[in-house]
Amino acid sequence: MKNKKLMYIVIALLVAVVGAVAFQSMGKSSSSKSSDGVAKVGVLQLVSHPSLDLIYQGIQDGLKEEGYDSSKVKIDFMNAEGDQSKVSTMSKQLVSNGNDVLVGIATPAAQGLATATKDKPVIMSAVTDPVGAKLVTNLEKPGGNITGVSDHNPAKQQLELIQTLTPNVKTIGVLYSSSEDNSKTQVEEFTKLAEEKGYKVEKFAVPSTNEIASTVNVMTSKVDAIYVPIDNTIASAFSTVVGANKEAKKPIFPSAAAMVEDGGLASVVVDQHDLGVATGKMIAKVLKGEKPADTPVHIFDTGKAVINKKVAKELGIEIPESVLKDAGQVIE
Ligand code: TRP
Repeated sequence: MKNKKLMYIVIALLVAVVGAVAFQSMGKSSSSKSSDGVAKVGVLQLVSHPSLDLIYQGIQDGLKEEGYDSSKVKIDFMNAEGDQSKVSTMSKQLVSNGNDVLVGIATPAAQGLATATKDKPVIMSAVTDPVGAKLVTNLEKPGGNITGVSDHNPAKQQLELIQTLTPNVKTIGVLYSSSEDNSKTQVEEFTKLAEEKGYKVEKFAVPSTNEIASTVNVMTSKVDAIYVPIDNTIASAFSTVVGANKEAKKPIFPSAAAMVEDGGLASVVVDQHDLGVATGKMIAKVLKGEKPADTPVHIFDTGKAVINKKVAKELGIEIPESVLKDAGQVIE
């Protein structure tokens, strides 16, 4: 009698355990939440530079605004430190870690994740040209497993600013990295617009941060001003650009506020924290079930001027009151 009772208890326990395991795996395959109700988001940041760091901060703030605080979402964060082989190993790692959604900050990071998975949702953050980078074929209807937020630098406004602040400039040197698809597109667009305005444009592509100083040294003897597109390689070593230009004192027009703060003269920029917040909100939508295929890419293409008055003074450049009045940020 006693033995029978024990057997029933054992059988009941077994049924309960098998049932629980089956239920758990069912839950996993049918929703984008792990068994404990906490969503898992894998984030790959290409490299550390102040703009990308701000974007990552914005992503966390955007998720929070949508109710995803640390009790609702676990972020699996990796930084490839600008190393292409780390981009690909970390991308694979983030996919195999079982994250529900993957997020790539900057073009090469998003490309790494796109190669690593064809079915898990991938959200691009701050990818300048998603079509040129072969991440989506249609911005309005991405169609595959990828969508996200794009930061198109306003090249036309940028050129107007160059014209207003430095009317004597005739030749503009463009400094960028040869390996970033985001830069290729911007350089083409900027060059076309500048040539239409009558400027001579000379392009200087560097293979890595190691060649920046020597390239800037050559540039300063050939050009009147330096333009830097939204390029991660240059942004991550911007102090080298400023250092190599110290004697020549050419005006530098970069494409992010952080680079103006660090010694550029002026720029028209997209707010980096806003880009991150928009990305965070899009991640939240996808966690709630929206499909990347049907989610249009969100484009940021208008910007505000940022002026470094200290650098202007060093270069003997007078900033017109009207420019200062409309600027989004003035560094004194
Ligand atoms: N848009 C860049 C890309 O597509 C990434 C980026 C965002 C960036 N903000 C920046 C690069 C500021 C340099 C500076 O890869």
